[in-house]
Amino acid sequence: MAQAANTLAMAGDNAYNENSGQQYLAMEASIPLFEGLNLETKATFVDYGCSQGAASMEVMRRLVSQLLPHSEATLVFNDLPSNDFNSLIKLLLATGSFDSTKTIYPCIAPNSFYNHVMPECTVDIAFALSSIHWLRQIPLPKEPTEGFEEYLRKRTNRNAAAAHKDLIEFLKLRGREVKPGGKLIVAAPSPCADNTDGRIAGNEKLRCALFQAMDILMDSGKLPPNASAGVYPPNHVHTQQSFQAAVNETEAMWVIEKAYDRVIPHPAYQAMLESQKGTQDIELHKSFEREYASDVVDWILAVFKPFMQKWWVEQGLDEGLCEGVFQECADLAKVEFVKSGGAALPVAQDFVFLRLNRC
Ligand SMILES: C[S@@+](CC[C@H](N)C(=O)[O-])C[C@H]1O[C@@H](n2cnc3c(N)ncnc32)[C@H](O)[C@@H]1O
Repeated sequence: MAQAANTLAMAGDNAYNENSGQQYLAMEASIPLFEGLNLETKATFVDYGCSQGAASMEVMRRLVSQLLPHSEATLVFNDLPSNDFNSLIKLLLATGSFDSTKTIYPCIAPNSFYNHVMPECTVDIAFALSSIHWLRQIPLPKEPTEGFEEYLRKRTNRNAAAAHKDLIEFLKLRGREVKPGGKLIVAAPSPCADNTDGRIAGNEKLRCALFQAMDILMDSGKLPPNASAGVYPPNHVHTQQSFQAAVNETEAMWVIEKAYDRVIPHPAYQAMLESQKGTQDIELHKSFEREYASDVVDWILAVFKPFMQKWWVEQGLDEGLCEGVFQECADLAKVEFVKSGGAALPVAQDFVFLRLNRC
């Protein structure tokens, strides 16, 4: 069966910006890689997979601050054409106040980053934060003859192979666009290295709460029978080793200059612990747990929503009912997360951070 290209972006109406505190922390953890760059007085910076721009804008601001007075900067914001660019455009006004001595040209580039996005040799600094783990194609669906575990095993292997191929393609395309001596800075989700803080279990409980919520809605007939089977955003994790393996296949276009791993927590967990410290009141503790559940469910749904709704409609859900059922699903998932003990555990993601030099 032919695989379709992934064309779905994050949840619109600014929902991703409002629910991406964890990705914002990943952006902050990448900042050391943006320091000490040798920039010309006319520079072009491109964010590949910028979404609605909250994290992107902060990186662009810092890059512009490194330019000499009276420099010119072209800031390019790339994402899939289905991205909510309207929310991003509202933030672009702020680029005018980055630095009055510098001329700023903000541009949007709606295109897949698995295509050419920029003309050859025009980019000084390219960056891709929490974005290149998105695969080019939608993974194949489960065959009716396959068991669920067999399917999951096969899908993981297929995604690993696809991620390797996609990363080589991404590096070659960016290798054409970035000037010699230019940089590509990446933050990408990586496999969880250990579970000493319970984050593997916390992440698992969050995903289970979402699938439990869909089960409840299927049982009550509000969702079609197969409504959870195809809800899998097409992404895969990367490691320093998988990056090196891909770089090795780009005919010496790139060299990895710097790399480090970090655990990036969801900020709502720490916020809950801080609030609970201030009181012994059991009811207040429970309400802080519910707030934590609400934040992490809204966070995961800001990514999953388009994939869920598309699948539900394909399975027969009336489009007019989609938003209402989705809200019900979100509310149920929040309750399930607390009920399963998820609120006692952190939700967090390991990340790999890299700076590559264009040779
Ligand atoms: C999790 S968001 C990260 C957004 C932002 N960089 C941040 O750090 O918060 C991933 C983004 O990658 C985009 N994306 C996925 N596949 C893409 C592709 N092939 N081309 C361009 N953007 C893509 C998605 O649409 C989404 O906006």
